[in-house]
Amino acid sequence: MPILDAYAVIGNPISHSKSPLIHTAFAQQTSQAMRYEAILSPVDEFQKTVTAFHQQGGKGLNVTVPFKLEAYAFSTHLTERAESAQAVNTLQFKHDEILGDNTDGAGLVRDIETNLGISIASKRILLMGAGGAARGVVLPILKQGPAMLAIANRTPKKAQLLQQQFAAYGELVSGHFMDFSGESFDIIINATSASLQDAIPDLPANIFANGSLAYDMMYSHEPTRFLAFAQQNGAHNLADGIGMLVEQAAESFFLWRGIRPQTKPIIAQLKTHA
Ligand code: ATR
Repeated sequence: MPILDAYAVIGNPISHSKSPLIHTAFAQQTSQAMRYEAILSPVDEFQKTVTAFHQQGGKGLNVTVPFKLEAYAFSTHLTERAESAQAVNTLQFKHDEILGDNTDGAGLVRDIETNLGISIASKRILLMGAGGAARGVVLPILKQGPAMLAIANRTPKKAQLLQQQFAAYGELVSGHFMDFSGESFDIIINATSASLQDAIPDLPANIFANGSLAYDMMYSHEPTRFLAFAQQNGAHNLADGIGMLVEQAAESFFLWRGIRPQTKPIIAQLKTHA
């Protein structure tokens, strides 16, 4: 039996994770000699669990809730996008170095631009939320050259802090959702965790421009309340976070293996069976 390079996703809880299915499909498709498992780490034993995996020859990890900040602190080297996200979702072990990367923003951008065929350049973008999920996508969005990026949050102060952090990278404004009443946006991205509680932020109904894209970074069997609201109020394109999930995985796979897998078949499979 050949020894297979070992990768895993680490989180708590982890049983729901689709990462093993996605990466196993990528490995088959690209004929990579690797295996990929899910690791449940006790919440207070992240470093111990990661170190044990590394010592057993593990090559890389995906990191999910609640460990993305700990992975950031644990990394000895960081990519620019992990540094700006202040969170790590991908670790790569190279000799004594632990490289921390964050592929979430690249996954979102690739899903919007390549899969949905919608260019971000010169568009007016509204990002809803100012927590970890929002922070992780701000720089990758700004690097595509939007006309402007508005960050709206229930607690406006947090949106303002993000605005200040990224001011050098593009045209940014911030505020409460209602501050944007009367303005319209081409792409509206929900990066709040409201959909997890089957809730919807306090969003003005008139913010969807003609032909706009409403994107929910969450996904579920039914359209989220945000996507239903967007459709009722004129958004033409609706997308949930399945495409982003698969694309961030592909970006991690590329970091580890140097090969870009085909994502469309697995996105289609997950959309059918999600
Ligand atoms: P994550 O890592 O998923 O971003 P987080 O850092 O806890 O989690 O951030 C959650 C985000 O969702 C925040 O922007 C939060 O708004 P506040 O900063 O005001 O707390 C937002 N959020 C959560 N539930 C919400 C709700 N019901 N309505 C509006 N925003 C909500």
